[in-house]
Amino acid sequence: MSVVTAAADQSVCTPLPVLGKDVTVPLVTGGEVTYAALDYAASAPALQRVWDDVAAYAPYYGSVHRGAGYLSQLSTDLFESSRKTVAEFLGCRADDQVIFTRSTTDSLNLLAAVVPADCQVFVYETEHHASLLPWRDARVTYLNAPRTPAQAVETLERALADRDPYGPALVCVTGASNVTGELWPVKELAAAAHAHGARIVLDAAQLAPHHPVDIDDLDVDWVAFSGHKLYAPFGSGVLAGRADWLQDAEPYLAGGGASRKVARRTDGGVDVEWHSTAARHEAGSPNVIGVYSIASACKALTEAGFDRLVAREQQLVTRVRAGLAEVPEVKVLSLFGDDAPRVGVISFVVEGWNSSHFAAALSAEYGIGVRDGLFCAHPLVRTLLGSDPQDPGECGAPEAEPGERSLNAIRVSFGAGTPDEHIERFVRAVKELVNKGAQWKYRTEDGRCVPDRGAAQV
Ligand SMILES: Cc1ncc(COP(=O)(O)O)c(C=O)c1O
Repeated sequence: MSVVTAAADQSVCTPLPVLGKDVTVPLVTGGEVTYAALDYAASAPALQRVWDDVAAYAPYYGSVHRGAGYLSQLSTDLFESSRKTVAEFLGCRADDQVIFTRSTTDSLNLLAAVVPADCQVFVYETEHHASLLPWRDARVTYLNAPRTPAQAVETLERALADRDPYGPALVCVTGASNVTGELWPVKELAAAAHAHGARIVLDAAQLAPHHPVDIDDLDVDWVAFSGHKLYAPFGSGVLAGRADWLQDAEPYLAGGGASRKVARRTDGGVDVEWHSTAARHEAGSPNVIGVYSIASACKALTEAGFDRLVAREQQLVTRVRAGLAEVPEVKVLSLFGDDAPRVGVISFVVEGWNSSHFAAALSAEYGIGVRDGLFCAHPLVRTLLGSDPQDPGECGAPEAEPGERSLNAIRVSFGAGTPDEHIERFVRAVKELVNKGAQWKYRTEDGRCVPDRGAAQV
């Protein structure tokens, strides 16, 4: 898969308005700055448009599916039209189902619960834990970390060639890594999976907010993503794709909404007829605000011109990577190499620094919010760091010796709402911290590295 590149710079747009863009935070060194939210890969700020749509709908909020009243019907229409909007956003096929869940984790656990009993699952060790871990009841093959997109396809081809050709099989792969931001060759992997009679689910948690996803064009069987990474932080997610395994399985949750008819049996038990539509796996009162907010975000990204947003984000990626490349102490983590297409998610380590210390200083001294750690992709980050898988890393002894391996990494991530100034501030901050050191002392508190407010300035 290739990143949409700016055909011409005039097609590049300005950042989309997001909530919190004017929020100021205190600096440990004195004064305040506007907060630079550079942790989009964890949770992106809400789009102003999403917030406005939700606020406009909120007075009309009503129970979905069950109510006879006007607002219930209005809310039901909104809920069901949101499903259509998401289906269009993902380029769903006519017979695909769009199921609303809580998150990507929930979506992948739902799929894991409905795979046929004898299903063989193939998953790369490089996946986020949400894709790596839900397949406990299936026969799972963990594929080794590939070092090129072509190797990813070869590894899968080999594994699938060795599988039992008669049973069902599922491949699970991320669209964009939450650690390196690198794009995976989804279309090629889907072709390989299908050639061997397997199905494929795309974990689009990091892809969907940064790049158009077309389920039909990619020819994947399912797509999962989360609202809170797509500028819609109201607690909903999506699983979209093939209906058959979903319809054949027991409901993910048993309860109202999933059942069409329930009756007592003469022997004292209960007979249930479950829905065969998306409702089968949406038992309980749905999160209509969460669902509507996702639909609103899908519309906002489409109407802004997703390709233009991608083009602008690519400029920011180039700026960050160029800035980091000017600092010899910085090592950017990569599986597929410098030329790999990637989204606005970049992880790195700084020689001589503990990553928690570095991230804490970015926050306390520059008002920049990044993330440090292993990013719920422990096997991948440890592979990239070449570190001891058992060692959790400590902030208590912040400065590693030059040349010593860091035990965790720093991740900067951004997207449609990121102004240039946040990127410029980040690049300047990295250079200043590396060249001049932190201006404050830091200590560990409840496992987090924090400024030592009792200490004198360095
Ligand atoms: C690639 C990837 N998959 C899945 C998830 C899980 O998403 P959520 O926490 O919204 O369930 C994440 C979250 O960071 C992710 O980055």
